[in-house]
Amino acid sequence: MKRTKINDLFRGDLLGQEVTVMGWVRTRRGNKHVQFVALNDGSTIKNVQIVFDLQDFSDEELKPITTGSSIKVDGILVESMGKGQSVEVQAKKLEIFGTADPEQYPLQKKGHTLEFLREKAHLRPRTNTFGAVLRVRSALAFAIHKFFQERGFYYLNTPLITASDCEGAGAMFQVTTLNLNNLPKKEDGSVDYSADFFGKPTALTVSGQLEGELGATALGAIYTFGPTFRAENSNTPRHLSEFWMIEPEVAFFDITDNMDLAEDFIKYCIKYALDNCIDDIEFLAEHYDKELVDRLKFVLDNEFVRLSYSDGVKILEESGHKFEFPVYWGADLQSEHERFLVEEHFKKPVILTDYPKEIKAFYMKLNEDGKTVRAMDVLFPKIGEIIGGSEREESYDKLQKRIEELDIPMKDMWWYLDTRRFGTVPHAGFGLGFERLVLFVTGMTNIRDVIPFPRTPNNAEF
Ligand code: 4AD
Ligand code: MG
Repeated sequence: MKRTKINDLFRGDLLGQEVTVMGWVRTRRGNKHVQFVALNDGSTIKNVQIVFDLQDFSDEELKPITTGSSIKVDGILVESMGKGQSVEVQAKKLEIFGTADPEQYPLQKKGHTLEFLREKAHLRPRTNTFGAVLRVRSALAFAIHKFFQERGFYYLNTPLITASDCEGAGAMFQVTTLNLNNLPKKEDGSVDYSADFFGKPTALTVSGQLEGELGATALGAIYTFGPTFRAENSNTPRHLSEFWMIEPEVAFFDITDNMDLAEDFIKYCIKYALDNCIDDIEFLAEHYDKELVDRLKFVLDNEFVRLSYSDGVKILEESGHKFEFPVYWGADLQSEHERFLVEEHFKKPVILTDYPKEIKAFYMKLNEDGKTVRAMDVLFPKIGEIIGGSEREESYDKLQKRIEELDIPMKDMWWYLDTRRFGTVPHAGFGLGFERLVLFVTGMTNIRDVIPFPRTPNNAEF
């Protein structure tokens, strides 16, 4: 079907020409002489106005054109007299693809709450807000590939089904084909996983990092970009059970290289969105977050503060601020602590490094003090932790010791340890939560509103 996308109508070079547009009707209004239809086809936040002269079209013909219906219009693109739009289509021919019963179509009026729209997640992409968010999300995904490809990183696809727990948090979704109502049992009464599909317990991955390290120690620099799964029961505006993560991993890289890469990367993505999605970002700014554009530019214009966890904790302890969760050396920082450092104290993004080993994953490189590891978390205004990463422990002996201390079953880890047995190298990497980046760039406040079909505890609709 030949059509012109609405986005292209605003370029100016099609003025005076015959065009064919197709899309979904946002509104229809008018009088006995003329009717105006605002049409959107998802190619831009802007609607194009279609003008129906009632000398050419009958009332009867136009009646089915209600909010949500889908139409095709052939007409002439002309400059618009009305304010608020530059061009409009003078309709010559109309075809209705599908009607949308006004009694039943849920997206009637403007200004539905985001909560209401979450219940209508199958239709919410048709709203201005979700159209904008999803276009920004798509642009950011492209920017991510562009950034890494331009720098010689290879895109590595890591498995979604895995038998190892990368983050060691145990928050994994089990994958099984066993009949849960009739489980095969061993003599001691435990489940006999040798009868399961893979012959052992498996789960959906929480991170592609471990396999990413295998790629990095062969190809030099890789990145993953795919879905990851966490069965934590955290009902917060920043957690999903299924989210997308980008994980670069680089050989011959230390923690400083890693911080530089993270900062360049995030700034590149934000700049790409500002350069390519300004209409959508401005719409979101106007409706949800007046300071959005300034905040994005502010991040681009400022160097991230870099300081150690220990110094960060000292600042928090000495702040006199009353936190809900207590803060002391050794405590895992909560979002309120992270945001205090970023929003109140430094008023800039912060990279916190050298966390106590007890609160970080087993694979992080131990510092000389024997107490802290070369971890780095990037903390952002409004978001808290947006990136988590580290330099990796490259010493076989130290890594093996840590695995033993943490009681991680060695038999599941032999292949990972082989990277340290054969040609081990210093290396580092990090993970960016894609939805947290989209949250930041769109100014939305709930992570459920930046992924088309969110998965959260008790919610797997659509
Ligand atoms: O800090 P995390 O757990 O780090 C890792 O998984 C490492 N393996 C990454 C690496 O070094 N390659 O997760 C990384 C990021 C977090 O900073 C956060 O942005 C995001 O993933 N994230 C979540 N996003 C949405 N919902 C959740 N439940 C998330 N958990 C982590
Ligand atoms: Mg983390």
